[in-house]
Amino acid sequence: MSTAMPSGATLEDFRLGMSRLAGGVSVVATGAAEDPAGWRGMTVTAVCSLCAEPPSLVVCLNHGTGTYARLRQHTQFSVNVLTSHDVGVAQTFAGLRGVFGQERFSSGDWTSGTLGVPVLTSALTSFECRVAQILEHGTHALLIGHIEAIHRADSEQGAEPLIYHSQGFHGLGTEIGSTGGTTA
Ligand SMILES: Cc1cc2nc3c(=O)[nH]c(=O)nc-3n(C[C@H](O)[C@H](O)[C@H](O)COP(=O)(O)O)c2cc1C
Repeated sequence: MSTAMPSGATLEDFRLGMSRLAGGVSVVATGAAEDPAGWRGMTVTAVCSLCAEPPSLVVCLNHGTGTYARLRQHTQFSVNVLTSHDVGVAQTFAGLRGVFGQERFSSGDWTSGTLGVPVLTSALTSFECRVAQILEHGTHALLIGHIEAIHRADSEQGAEPLIYHSQGFHGLGTEIGSTGGTTA
């Protein structure tokens, strides 16, 4: 039997509904260049663009995670957008391979970015951010990150994003329409 939620939707309804919301997969990473033993990171899909002025993004983290605890102390982080080649990195940083803490960074090629936070060299793009605001709600915290630096992979590499949908990792399907380069 599914658990009723205060809103009337059940927990099962919530999980099933959200499993149909396809999302790009990223790794949020935090810690200082001079202290790699203190690096922490986790796989996320809850990332979105907020605004270009000032350049900002939103990421939602469970406030019980080790990465969030470290991020509260360090206040700087990276968002590394994964390619379909890095499904192993996604699994490792989601805790699906039984690897935790700093040891996760042996999966993938990590370096220190402009702010000194860990940056994945194979990422489609990496955003380095300072925490601008935090809003806690239920089990999660919504963080607004002020983007200080952006690294982009060479588009000629032909890398495609890693997508998570219905409990599975996917590559990008065939394009079936275009916005002609415009976004709202
Ligand atoms: C595909 C996928 C997406 C995830 N997205 C999020 C997310 O957006 N926010 C979140 O808090 N946890 C998310 N998780 C769960 C974390 O990656 C997982 O709990 C992680 O092990 C936390 O690590 P930590 O406690 O060492 O920081 C996701 C897991 C998977 C497999």
